[in-house]
Amino acid sequence: MADIIQAVRGMNDVLPADIATWQHLEATVRQLVTAYGYEEIRVPVVEHTRLFKRAIGEYTDVVEKEMYTFEDQGGEQLTLRPEATAGIVRAVISNGMLRGARHKLWCIGPMFRHEKPQKGRYRQFHQLDVEAIGFAGPDIDAELIAMTARLWRTLGITRVKLQLNSLGTPESRRAYRELLVSYFRANESRLDADSRRRLEGNPLRILDSKNPEMRELIAGAPVLTEHLDADSRAHFDALCAMLGSMGIEYHVNPRLVRGLDYYSRTVFEWTTDALGSQDAVCAGGRYDGLIAHLGGESTPAIGFAMGIERVVELLVQANKVPAPTAPDIYVVVNGERASAEALKLAEQLRTVLPHRRIEVNLGGGNFKAQFRRADKSNARLALILGEDELARGVVAMKPLRQESGQTDCPTPELATRVEALLRELPAEQN
Ligand code: HAM
Repeated sequence: MADIIQAVRGMNDVLPADIATWQHLEATVRQLVTAYGYEEIRVPVVEHTRLFKRAIGEYTDVVEKEMYTFEDQGGEQLTLRPEATAGIVRAVISNGMLRGARHKLWCIGPMFRHEKPQKGRYRQFHQLDVEAIGFAGPDIDAELIAMTARLWRTLGITRVKLQLNSLGTPESRRAYRELLVSYFRANESRLDADSRRRLEGNPLRILDSKNPEMRELIAGAPVLTEHLDADSRAHFDALCAMLGSMGIEYHVNPRLVRGLDYYSRTVFEWTTDALGSQDAVCAGGRYDGLIAHLGGESTPAIGFAMGIERVVELLVQANKVPAPTAPDIYVVVNGERASAEALKLAEQLRTVLPHRRIEVNLGGGNFKAQFRRADKSNARLALILGEDELARGVVAMKPLRQESGQTDCPTPELATRVEALLRELPAEQN
């Protein structure tokens, strides 16, 4: 027997049993972002490697260790997108969409990072990504965060907390960075290997270290929010006031620095205590310098991305999973002629009742076996068509999820009677 080929490690199938939850989340998200005036954009899964290097930063984990990069047959260095912001910004620039215009954009799709897989952390995962381009804030920052808070409320997710910080402007960060470098230099012997490497390229990322041995050293480091420039301070204070007035709870976390280099000013993260170590479910921030850095005209922007797998897991844990969809009608047939007639009849019903899910018993079987399949399908109504019904020009109707008898319906009236009956029958599945 041939060996069975497994899926690539860290890349998951979403099976039919789970799809209702994914679709529920996707539909909720789509409705929400549309209600806030965002438009969908779809960008390629593959981009030039240099786009991610320039946008995300050479010294980030994503670029240093996690990108799926390959050379294509034409010798181009390409990368499977590890996130969506770089691609969307590239699209906005290369399609000439800037010129002072403002865009509220969103997309949903797979991202790829070669991380160590564990619960909530995958190599192919999905993000909802939202970007507001051309807005200087802080009002858009507040509205964007309010939108995420509304999403949790709509989905019935409660175990999430909002963390907020400001990274200031590149200039104020440069000054802070110098302070930080001198602090870590003075304590160089206590730095782990990763942090020592980052000391040159990206010292702020040392603050993000997960190494418990570094905790004490990091706790003593100068705090970024105490070294903000006046404009960033005012921006942050105004954002906090707006969130306060909307009743959105937040925790200022001065150690929140984010793993991607393009951020400036506002950064935020929704975290949960329900998913173990992979606690970030939604994260983002302002990236006022990125568009110019990628060759576009200088344009402020802010956005966030939400990990779909992690939110699906929160929905499962909170028992907010929609019931699987079942057929409305299962057509039971008896005899060869009836079988052909049943297919024809179902086609006619599908034309008149396109919103109804209709399954015809396929592949034969006696009545008992067919009713067993009908029951298992959780359909609400069986339609029965045998030689006898054919001869009399009727179809028998039998509700399956309640004790009530079978009634005959003249074939020409079937669609009307079936629809009326389905409206009367309880919709809930068990
Ligand atoms: P990020 O923090 O790298 O930001 O990712 C955002 C979210 O994607 C995380 O909070 C998490 O929920 C999910 N995520 C990330 N990596 C994985 C993984 N390996 N497995 C499962 N879920 C994962 C960004 O990607 C930025 N582009 C967000 C942004 C948009 N900033 C501005 N605009």
